Amino acid sequence: MHRQDESYGQDDAADTHSSSAALAAGRRVLVIGASQGIGLATCKAALAAGFRVRGLARNIDRRSLHHPEFEAVRADALNEADVAAALQGCDAVVQTLGIKADPATLINPVTLFSRATDVLLPAMRAAGVARLVAVTGYGVGDSRRALPLPERILFETVMGRVAADKERQESAIRASDTQWTILRPGFLTLVASCPAARLRADPPDWRNGFVSRNAVADAIVGLLRGGGYLHKAVVFT
Ligand SMILES: NC(=O)c1ccc[n+]([C@@H]2O[C@H](COP(=O)([O-])OP(=O)(O)OC[C@H]3O[C@@H](n4cnc5c(N)ncnc54)[C@H](OP(=O)(O)O)[C@@H]3O)[C@@H](O)[C@H]2O)c1
Repeated sequence: MHRQDESYGQDDAADTHSSSAALAAGRRVLVIGASQGIGLATCKAALAAGFRVRGLARNIDRRSLHHPEFEAVRADALNEADVAAALQGCDAVVQTLGIKADPATLINPVTLFSRATDVLLPAMRAAGVARLVAVTGYGVGDSRRALPLPERILFETVMGRVAADKERQESAIRASDTQWTILRPGFLTLVASCPAARLRADPPDWRNGFVSRNAVADAIVGLLRGGGYLHKAVVFT
């Protein structure tokens, strides 16, 4: 069963003293990458927290989630017109895109994350939507050096192309004028709960670990509600 634990994000506002981005219940959140995984879990957690939710993905429809405040938008995150339309009437965006973990990912260039972000950021600006929570991953950007050497070598071998594109994604977000928070979860699991998981903003506190997608979703909703960790990349393990 999905756990709605407010504590993940509630500390954030207190830690960062930034509540200008706090989102009240009833506001509308656009989740990009909403058909499965963290995105779908975020839709459920956000609805449980009283938000209205618009979920965008290529393979999504009304049947994906039965809730009166849920709207499904079947679209490609790379389509400028569709993303612009999906942003209308929204107050925040959660970007939880992912790609298939298959051999092609190891060989082919990865560009989804940076290209989708290059579509999203100007569209947010045009629509006047400021708040953005974007999921990347532990090992991306400056969190790479927090990996022990053997883990870093493995990460670069397996995830190098994905991480490089997520680094381009993070750079674009950092350079934007959005109220952004980058969330870097550790290894994702399907287990129902991980009680020890917490947001870690301080590099000395960064460590890898296992977190459930539901826990990541709860952390995202906490960030939306509390408005904390503005302009920070935080590890969640
Ligand atoms: N696996 C791990 O241990 C781990 C650790 C840390 C971070 N992460 C990262 O966390 C993120 C979420 O992971 P997850 O496992 O929850 O993801 P996931 O289950 O693979 O879901 C990815 C979502 O992105 C959507 N998507 C992909 N391409 C799209 C496009 N062009 N337009 C619109 N939607 C698109 C998919 O929907 P459609 O296919 O229906 O479009 C789906 O809803 C990923 O970036 C992943 O790399 C993973």
